[in-house]
Amino acid sequence: MISVKQVRDFAKDIMEEKRFLHAERTAQMSREITMAHNIDDDICNKIEIASMLHDIARDMPEELLLSKAYKKDLNINKYELEKPVLLHGKVGAEIVKSKLAIFDEDILNAIRYHTSGRVGMSIVERVVMISDVIEIGRKFRGVEELRGMAMENLNDIFKRIIENKIVYFVQCGLFVLPKTYELWNHILLKEANTDGKELYIF
Ligand SMILES: [Fe+2]
Ligand SMILES: [Fe+2]
Repeated sequence: MISVKQVRDFAKDIMEEKRFLHAERTAQMSREITMAHNIDDDICNKIEIASMLHDIARDMPEELLLSKAYKKDLNINKYELEKPVLLHGKVGAEIVKSKLAIFDEDILNAIRYHTSGRVGMSIVERVVMISDVIEIGRKFRGVEELRGMAMENLNDIFKRIIENKIVYFVQCGLFVLPKTYELWNHILLKEANTDGKELYIF
């Protein structure tokens, strides 16, 4: 398995500075979360690698995102066609495969779905998605409360992150992606069926 240092060097080389700093802060937040929850070392490693790489394609021009997505046959949906920036996760995962020879599906899915989420996310995917939203550089009302929650209960914070995303998308007039609202509905169904007690139910 590639080391975190190798990944960091790669990210530093190809990302714009502002984006690289966000990636570093996301990795830092993910480390804090994994430490607070006693997560296995190999899982922590994957989380840190995926955090460093999740926005690797975020600054790619729209035409390039689209052309890469076509070339790799990535099943572009109508929302991605309208807003190609939505492809940066899927294209990012392809870059990571071809340039770093990372084929771990947990890492790749964490990169692919960090914006939308999806039903059936692994712990790696969930921690990356959470860390991206609450890293220390993020400044929105209530973010401190979310950071506290992330150290306490992974189920609660995960649900809040999805809720926040949907509210934010609606308030900003952005698409709510099908994968995101499917996930929200799935969480509510799971809660109803398990009394919300089971850990890592999503
Ligand atoms: Fe992103
Ligand atoms: Fe990000």
